[in-house]
Amino acid sequence: MQFPPATGPQTDSPSRAGTPLHLRAGGVSLVLDLAGPALPRVLYWGRDLGELGPEDLAALEPASRPGKTPNRPDEPFTLTLLPENSHSWVGTPGLAGHRRGRDFSTRFQTQAVEQAGGGGSARHAAPRGAQGEAGAGGGQAVVVRAVEPDAELDLKLEVELAGSGLIRMRGELANNGEGRYTLDGMTLAMPVPGQAGELLDFGGHWAHEREPQRHPFPQGTWAREGRRGRTGHDATPLLIAGEPGFGFRHGQVWAVHTAWSGNHRTLAERLPGGERILAGGELPLPGEIQLEQGQSYTSPWVYFGYGDGLDDLAARFHRFIRGWPARRRQPRPVTGNSWEAVYFNHQLEPLIALAEAFAEVGVERFVLDDGWFRHRRDDKAGLGDWHVDQAVWPDGLHPLADRVRELGMDFGLWVEPEMVNADSDLARAHPDWIMAAGRRLPPESRHQQVLNLGNPAALAHIKERLDALVDEYQVAFLKWDHNRDLVEPGDQATGKAGVHAQTEAVYQLWDYLKERHPGLEIETCASGGGRVDLGILSRADRVWTSDCTDARERQAIQRHTGLLVPPEFLGAHISADPNHQTGRSLPLAMRAVTAMFGDLGIEWDIRALDAPARQELAAWVAVYKQWRGLLHAADAVHADHPDPAFWVHGRVAPDKSRALFAIVPRSTSAEQPPGQFRPVGLDPARRYRVEPLAISRPVLGWQTWDASPWWEDGIVQVGRVLMERGLRTPDLPPDTPVLISFTGTGG
Ligand code: DGJ
Repeated sequence: MQFPPATGPQTDSPSRAGTPLHLRAGGVSLVLDLAGPALPRVLYWGRDLGELGPEDLAALEPASRPGKTPNRPDEPFTLTLLPENSHSWVGTPGLAGHRRGRDFSTRFQTQAVEQAGGGGSARHAAPRGAQGEAGAGGGQAVVVRAVEPDAELDLKLEVELAGSGLIRMRGELANNGEGRYTLDGMTLAMPVPGQAGELLDFGGHWAHEREPQRHPFPQGTWAREGRRGRTGHDATPLLIAGEPGFGFRHGQVWAVHTAWSGNHRTLAERLPGGERILAGGELPLPGEIQLEQGQSYTSPWVYFGYGDGLDDLAARFHRFIRGWPARRRQPRPVTGNSWEAVYFNHQLEPLIALAEAFAEVGVERFVLDDGWFRHRRDDKAGLGDWHVDQAVWPDGLHPLADRVRELGMDFGLWVEPEMVNADSDLARAHPDWIMAAGRRLPPESRHQQVLNLGNPAALAHIKERLDALVDEYQVAFLKWDHNRDLVEPGDQATGKAGVHAQTEAVYQLWDYLKERHPGLEIETCASGGGRVDLGILSRADRVWTSDCTDARERQAIQRHTGLLVPPEFLGAHISADPNHQTGRSLPLAMRAVTAMFGDLGIEWDIRALDAPARQELAAWVAVYKQWRGLLHAADAVHADHPDPAFWVHGRVAPDKSRALFAIVPRSTSAEQPPGQFRPVGLDPARRYRVEPLAISRPVLGWQTWDASPWWEDGIVQVGRVLMERGLRTPDLPPDTPVLISFTGTGG
């Protein structure tokens, strides 16, 4: 897209009068210097500064301008939202690109600033996703247009402050000059203050996503780069900089997230002058983004969150995501998934028996996982052949899907549309549709290759297949899998890298399907949590959080994924005992309580359970259904509990009238009896009736001594006393969590 020709600076923006722009929402202030001619820069980002007059705002700039120091450029550095070397910035540049080696450096000049929103009338640029809105009301947006006369580039920067206090930014770069401009990356940055002395981000791998890593904010660049062609199991949901020692309830934190499901990076950088930034953007492969004259590139949204503690930070993301137009089935249906029950062993009668057993314990959506399509008897063949296998299903999936619906459940189906097995009719017919760098095929992974959806014919084929399946079987839910990294992901015809095009094509495909089939839900799964980011999440209705269904492992995975993603999006299934991934045996209470704090499902062959075992399972599902209204709309809170043997987390209703907490004993405690636990996030002035849920009480039967009296009878107490003094933690065996309800008495 081309911008209007440059007409010189406008004088109508607040900044032209020299006053910085103060945006406030959801307890956050963002003060932007829009005076130009440089691109905007942040004078303050953090806790709400309250009402400020023009003089106070004007004083921010001289108070923060660096002086001249030895051996540094005479023009002190200016950090703009797109950092530029031409302003003496020697950290990571915002724009990396060139025109045949020239025009490698820029000095953009702001031409125009538009502002919209505020006072509850949010104006949000429409995101590319089908579900687009910047989030809850009260948001404000600033659009800056700038030109680079020498390099002949135009830039549009959009900055939004959502009602929740979350900030997001994206840039659009247009090539205005003759000759191709090669874009190697666009990285958008925000400064963080000096008190942000510690970093927290997450690594991990398949079935062990979101392993925390915490360390001092070092000098240099701490970059988390994703080069897997998908978000990655090791991708960090957030890169967080905070006051040393920050926790869920204390310490200021600033965080960045790049909303892109392809190659990407987020980084924290600290220069010798003390400058600290958080930044993010797409990470294109060499030569992947080439702009001919008149063409443009739009970056993904890069999100920046502030919080007084991690819960406050997470709440800003949760409120924002929950503000996306409601389209998901509510309340969230209980899912029954066939994978760990039968794997590839698909047979009609046993699957109908499984569906019946699921329905009996309260399941509301049956999902037929991998194994239903042509040639798919194991993971070596069939991907790409999206036709029901007549050898296994002579009448198609109708007998199963019809029975599922008769039982009052939705019918859901597993697909992995971006993939192809060499042993498939599709690969045999269209070998050129496989992603490859030139003629050499990439190494296989899980016996599969990647289908090049950047190829219009391949994309059209997949669209047609999925459309037809959803239509024929009235599919209400697709579990959309993606089981391998993209290695050497090129387009065979052009020989060029294709992750960007692939990512865009997947977004387009989801948008298309959702438009064609209103009400269709799609779960993002990539061997578990390998594709969890706000690019896909602006379209997805559920996240398959991890292939690890071991509840002890899941406690950690859900806790950390939940910093970005609201808990009701996190698919969490009660699975077999012993667990299939770890071989660990855990009580049903542990498996059920863990699943209750996400989007609960069952993935377990429960056909063989005897009547009492089924009743016990059904009782947990019933408790979940009773509480899910609260669980799925509440604030997710976590106590910074001093005893590492316990995790204490809860869900508190937005009006704080009710709450449900779980005490999760992870090991035996060093103290006996264990000390007090202190709930968090309650209304300090309100009186609550506190009691363990009946389903938790039998757990206490293991003890040979008396429980604390409040366990027997419950207790009524004022919120502030509960939060300050707490309650005696029950002496629980490891992996035996209990649930405690808090009900405002109004008195
Ligand atoms: C990986 C997924 O994460 C599993 O849940 C299951 O769907 C398998 N793929 C099926 O192949």
